[in-house]
Amino acid sequence: MNGIFNFSTAGSIIMGVGALKKLGSEARKLGGKKVFIITDEGIAKAGILEKVKGILEKEGFEVGYFDKVIPEPPIDTVEDIAEAVKQDGYNLLIGLGGGSSIDATKAVSILVTNGGPIDKYVGTNLVEKPGLPTIMLPTTSGTGSEVTPIAILTDVKEELKKGVVSPYLYADVAIVDPNLTITVPPKITANTGMDALIHAIESYIAKKANKFTECISLEAIKLISGSLRTAVADGENIEARYNMSLGSLMAGVAFANAGVGAVHALAYPLGGQFHIPHGMANTLMLRYVMEYNVVSRMEKFAKIAEAMGENIEGLSIREAAQKAIDAMIALAEDIGVPTKLREVDIPEAAIPKLAEAGVKVTRLLSNNPRVLTLEDITQIYTNAW
Ligand SMILES: [Fe+2]
Repeated sequence: MNGIFNFSTAGSIIMGVGALKKLGSEARKLGGKKVFIITDEGIAKAGILEKVKGILEKEGFEVGYFDKVIPEPPIDTVEDIAEAVKQDGYNLLIGLGGGSSIDATKAVSILVTNGGPIDKYVGTNLVEKPGLPTIMLPTTSGTGSEVTPIAILTDVKEELKKGVVSPYLYADVAIVDPNLTITVPPKITANTGMDALIHAIESYIAKKANKFTECISLEAIKLISGSLRTAVADGENIEARYNMSLGSLMAGVAFANAGVGAVHALAYPLGGQFHIPHGMANTLMLRYVMEYNVVSRMEKFAKIAEAMGENIEGLSIREAAQKAIDAMIALAEDIGVPTKLREVDIPEAAIPKLAEAGVKVTRLLSNNPRVLTLEDITQIYTNAW
């Protein structure tokens, strides 16, 4: 805890209701002339692409777009977009959407300047030079991808998720406008909101946590747990949406620096083998990983309970710590996110293969506050079933 730490984030963060108004001036500051937007069909259908495109065209930018990003974008897709962007001479990229569109934008940015194939950069710190400038406009409150240096892509042939991690993936500008999240349906608000909460919790108790990230994580836990129920129940409640946007942004800033842990590690195989959405997969593992972790960070768990609005007065540290886990699960249940593997039709027989895949996610497991063996991981999946 007393060692050297490093803290990095996006070049600039603009947050608030109506922040989208700053898009034109920010694009100009970055020298943008020909601007390319990367998004998905849902965003196009909701009219958000048209709105963003309109703002840019009105301010004199030439605008192109790709609106077919799919979840966990295939490597072929990003390589094709990069080729088109390069040939047509676009000089600024805008990632508009959830984590997938933003991750695709990061990958395209470095591919245009560094050249392909993307496989050369899978891993940590393998990108050689900065990419095209990027502005990220998140439309969900969840992944925090607008402020992380990570892009997760899918190798369709190898059926593998691949991650590129590099400081060159940090956005030049993240514009976080809660207005963009208003049309997100309750189910996606719930899943992505749980992902954001879990970023905050896992980064708070992570081995790499430091004084900077701890403050940010704890405040994010407070904001998210205090507003997620309302955001799910009443999507047009702008105060709840604001708190979710801010909480998810802060959780992203914290976990970009402190990392996440075993919840994310053990959730990955659920996505890979059963195509469970990321936030839901994390929620399925949450209680059981936290029950395992609690002995390693009792005082921090007590602080989480407090941040989640639990009254811990007069309780022993052990009782207070347990309250944190109870509060996490109550929240998931209130907003209808499942917390048992059997609820999403995963057979018990799948556990050995899940554990085998989970134990390999060493980048995240090594940051978990308590060491896990294959036996521990098998037990956690069994408890979660
Ligand atoms: Fe996540």
